[in-house]
Amino acid sequence: MTKQIAIFASGSGSNAEKIAEYLTNIPDVETTLILSNNPKAGVIDRARRLHIPVLLFDRTTFYESNQVTRLLQAQKIDLIVLAGFMWLMPSELVQAFPDRIVNIHPALLPKFGGKGMYGHFVHEAVVAAGETESGITIHYVNEHYDEGQIIFQASCPVAPTDSPEDVARHVQKLEHEHYPRIVAELVAAM
Ligand code: GAR
Repeated sequence: MTKQIAIFASGSGSNAEKIAEYLTNIPDVETTLILSNNPKAGVIDRARRLHIPVLLFDRTTFYESNQVTRLLQAQKIDLIVLAGFMWLMPSELVQAFPDRIVNIHPALLPKFGGKGMYGHFVHEAVVAAGETESGITIHYVNEHYDEGQIIFQASCPVAPTDSPEDVARHVQKLEHEHYPRIVAELVAAM
């Protein structure tokens, strides 16, 4: 049976696109749906180009109804992939998909994680702390920001002269290199 993947993204969606493209070359796996909380997110145009349906939802629907969970269950989603999704997953959704939700964080957790640590804030904090390396963490999602079990990490050096934008570029390269493959491996193991 074809495995169904749903991707959540709030922003540009470069990771979502890389994952969806990668999965088109894997037999019996389909990116069924892209979900976003942000009607202006770049991921929406990317999804259109890839002919993947998009579901937009607001805060009330996400946190005060179980509509999103019910839809994911009705579509028989096997794996939920967070790719730059900036809202905490509601516990009812986490409980409905145990060990079936993964996230990517643009740093080496447990460092530089938690509420407010996302996107460029992470790279700014890494540079401000004088870190000599940063990287990516792919992990399972639980009810707390960035705390689920770690699946994979990869690191890159941070030079004393690197700006947050430099770090962001190195980290994004790692994300695009590894996230699609790790998602495919997780699906293959299901
Ligand atoms: C990625 O760097 C991802 O790691 C980060 O948002 C970016 C999304 O980029 N996620 C977080 O900070 C989550 N805490 P993209 O929209 O181009 O894929």
